[in-house]
Amino acid sequence: MLALDLGGGAELRALEPWNADEFAAHVAQARDHLKPWIPFASRVVDAQTARDLLQRFADKQAHDEGRLYGIWIDGVLSGGTLFKTFDSVGGVCEIGVWLAPQAQGRGLISATARLMIDWAFRARGMHRVEWHTDPLNERSKAVAKRLGFTYEGTHRSDFVINGERHDSEVWSLLSSDPRA
Ligand SMILES: CC(C)(COP(=O)(O)OP(=O)(O)OC[C@H]1O[C@@H](n2cnc3c(N)ncnc32)[C@H](O)[C@@H]1OP(=O)(O)O)[C@@H](O)C(=O)NCCC(=O)NCCS
Repeated sequence: MLALDLGGGAELRALEPWNADEFAAHVAQARDHLKPWIPFASRVVDAQTARDLLQRFADKQAHDEGRLYGIWIDGVLSGGTLFKTFDSVGGVCEIGVWLAPQAQGRGLISATARLMIDWAFRARGMHRVEWHTDPLNERSKAVAKRLGFTYEGTHRSDFVINGERHDSEVWSLLSSDPRA
């Protein structure tokens, strides 16, 4: 796959180390919007830190342990999705998502996450897809609900963002669950 047409001028493509300059510019533009929810929004501050993150995902992909995709709208990198973890032996993976503020409200993440989930279940035989989110992140929870995920519980003080510890809700979708 080089580019998957998402409609309305949007495309899904692999987001790779050679995209570092573009990724750094995208994160800089969307930083204030992403920073409360996405750890990399604080870490990616220039082309080198962008390349470091993209290389980590390239390495994960090479080991079949994760993947990273970008969403381009009219040729401008505007968000992305990832398999933060991908355990093909255990059959469990975790999806992550983000968008620039101006790209929200078009259903792009729901559509892309559906494609990823289909691929994980059908092509890769995964059993369980997880969605982790800050309990305060209403837009993220709305996507999980729209996709048919089930809320399982809250991990207390689970991760650090901007120097503060936060809880995280765990939602899951099983290959045997009805799909939204
Ligand atoms: C979480 C985030 C990616 C959700 O983005 P989003 O645009 O709300 O999600 P989607 O792309 O699925 O779009 C859903 C919206 O598009 C609308 N929409 C339009 N066409 C649609 C379609 N065909 N299918 C689904 N929704 C559609 C929905 O009504 C909804 O709009 P609403 O919230 O005004 O009701 C975004 O808010 C974000 O990047 N937040 C900051 C980073 C973040 O929190 N990441 C997640 C960490 S867990």
